Amino acid sequence: MHTNIDKIRMVVIEEIIQETPSVKTFVFDDLLSSSAKPGQFLMIWIPRAEELPMSVMISNKKNHAAITIRKHGFGSTSLFEKKQNDLIGVRGPYGNYFSVNRHLQRPLLVGGGTGLVPLMRLATSFSKKQEKCTIIMGAQTQKEVIFKDLAEEILSKLKAKIIVTTEDGSYGTKGVVTDVLKYILKKEKFDMIYTCGPELMMMKIYNLSVIHSIPIQASLERYMKCGIGICASCCINDQLVCKDGTVFNENQLSEMSEFGKVFRDKAGRPGYY
Ligand SMILES: Cc1cc2nc3c(=O)[nH]c(=O)nc-3n(C[C@H](O)[C@H](O)[C@H](O)COP(=O)(O)OP(=O)(O)OC[C@H]3O[C@@H](n4cnc5c(N)ncnc54)[C@H](O)[C@@H]3O)c2cc1C
Ligand code: FES
Repeated sequence: MHTNIDKIRMVVIEEIIQETPSVKTFVFDDLLSSSAKPGQFLMIWIPRAEELPMSVMISNKKNHAAITIRKHGFGSTSLFEKKQNDLIGVRGPYGNYFSVNRHLQRPLLVGGGTGLVPLMRLATSFSKKQEKCTIIMGAQTQKEVIFKDLAEEILSKLKAKIIVTTEDGSYGTKGVVTDVLKYILKKEKFDMIYTCGPELMMMKIYNLSVIHSIPIQASLERYMKCGIGICASCCINDQLVCKDGTVFNENQLSEMSEFGKVFRDKAGRPGYY
């Protein structure tokens, strides 16, 4: 077994699950990745193309892990087009992770798109104590809804509530996750919000968490090159998302003037949302 997480392990894509027309999950055998904590990520090397950060997805096969890729630009499309039995490189898992306090009873998970990947892993760590958990899952259209059946399976022994939103109303509740969140926070109590997805979405969720005095843990995404705290391409204010995060709590988020406002491009130049 490799114990050096920084060494690239070449893994075979054993199984490909077509989640939606533009999202696929690749399953591979890797003990280190399979033991990742919820919120941790891998650096995925796509030979002759790119190296990209990807959250670690769960797999029901022993010692296996997975990644869920949304086809977007050059790097992710090169990965998306890989076939069964192709090789990819994996290093990590990196970063901190979502923590589940032993007193936690009513967690609320809010995610959109592939931001749901770490939330699925988190949901597997819940027990009877967190049975009143709620998940709000967002997608643009019915075709892009991912992990609804998986969430039902993971949480089948709990009294969990699963709410799906689509922007065009083609499935579930019409709107975005924050529309449902605003409504649900007026009626119900939660003791922690966990979120992952686009930064603007997470900023709105953070603002609502402040209004309702609910602690929050948000897993942030930034441009990453090294993934291990050397290059600073992933900085947000003075924090390195790859090393100090990716998960930040309400106190840390409150000190980040760049959160939801400033991003950095490939060259490290600031841009504005
Ligand atoms: C911690 C973390 C976990 C992620 N998990 C997933 C996941 O589970 N599934 C998934 O599909 N995507 C995930 N991503 C996003 C993924 O790494 C890529 O950003 C995305 O696939 C687009 O890459 P591209 O080369 O196709 O896009 P491009 O067209 O080259 O770039 C489009 C945009 O993607 C972002 N991007 C490109 N390269 C990187 C990079 N090296 N690091 C960060 N952002 C980049 C930038 O915002 C860029 O403007 C994650 C990102 C981070 C930081
Ligand atoms: S990606 Fe290099 S410091 Fe975070």
